[in-house]
Amino acid sequence: MTSHFLTGEELSVADQARLLTLAADIKARPERYRRRLEGRTLAMIFQKKSTRTRVSFEAGMFQLGGHALFLGADDIQIGRGETISDTARVLSRYVDLIMARVYAHADVEELAATSRVPVINGLSDLHHPCQVLADLQTIAERFGALERRHLAYVGDGNNMAHSLLLGCARAGMSVSVATPEGYACRPEIVARARAQAAAFGQSIVTTTRPAEAVTGADAVYTDVWASMGQEQEQARRLRDFAGFQVDAALMAHAKPTAIFLHCLPAHRGEEVSAEVCDGPQSVIFDEAENRLHAQKALMLMLLGEVDS
Ligand code: CP
Ligand code: NVA
Repeated sequence: MTSHFLTGEELSVADQARLLTLAADIKARPERYRRRLEGRTLAMIFQKKSTRTRVSFEAGMFQLGGHALFLGADDIQIGRGETISDTARVLSRYVDLIMARVYAHADVEELAATSRVPVINGLSDLHHPCQVLADLQTIAERFGALERRHLAYVGDGNNMAHSLLLGCARAGMSVSVATPEGYACRPEIVARARAQAAAFGQSIVTTTRPAEAVTGADAVYTDVWASMGQEQEQARRLRDFAGFQVDAALMAHAKPTAIFLHCLPAHRGEEVSAEVCDGPQSVIFDEAENRLHAQKALMLMLLGEVDS
C-alpha cells in the first residue's frame, strides 16, 4: 500500500479497484466504520478556496471517529514564509495524515518528501485525484463494471482532465479529451494514461473537436474554463473556449444512456448549459456526495485500517 496520494498513481490498479469497493460499502453501511479512525487527526492545508474538499474531508474524518484541522495558508506560518518542508516536518509530529490544496504541484511533492505521515493531494495545478475517485464511484453506480466504459472530457486540459485520464485509464476505461488549440493536456500525462489504457486494450484519444470526443461516450465530463489562479485569463478563455460548451446538442452525440459529470463548482452558460447541468442525465450531486465516501475509503487505506 502506498504512503502518499499525489497523482493517484501511487495506488496500484488493484488497490484503486479495492478502494472503490470499500467506498461503496462505506456509503451503504457507514455505521460499520464509525470508530475506525478514533484518536486520529487530519491536518488540511488550503492555499485555495474549497467547498467540497474541505467539508467532505472534515465531515468524513469526524464520521470515522477522528478529528480534522482546517489550516488556511494565511492562518499558519506558511503564509509568512515558513517553508513547506519545515511545515511538513512539524505537522507530521502532531497528526496522522496531511491533506493539502496547493497551487504548484511541486509543493505537495515537497510536503510528501518531508512528511512522516501520508500526504493527500486535495488539488494542485496538475492533478485532482480525490475528485476522480468520487467520479469513478459515481460512474460505477450507474453502469456497474468500469472496464471498457468510455469517458469523454470536453474543455480545458487542466488538473481535472489529467486526473481523469490517469484514473479512468487505470480503471480499464477509454478516455477521449477535446480541448481548444493551446489548452491541451500535458503530453507526458497523456502518455502515462495511454500506457495504462493499453494494458486493458483501451485507448486514449485527444482532439480539438468536442463532437468527435463525445461520440459514443458513456460519460461526458467538463470543468471550468478558468481554474483557481487563472481569474485574470477569464475574458480570453471565454473567447478561446467558444464551441466547447457541453449542451444538449453535444450530449446528443453520446450514448442515449450517457451521464453528465462535473467536479463543481459549475458555471452554467459557460462550460455547460443549465439544461444539461440540471437535466436528467446529470449526476453532479451524486458525484459531490461521493467525495465523502471515496475519501473515507482513501483515509482508511492510507492509515492501514481496512479489513484484510
Ligand atoms: N470539486 C471540488 O474539489 O470542489 P471544491 O473546490 O469546492 O473543493
Ligand atoms: N480545475 C478547477 C477544479 C476545481 C475543483 C480548478 O483548479 O479551479
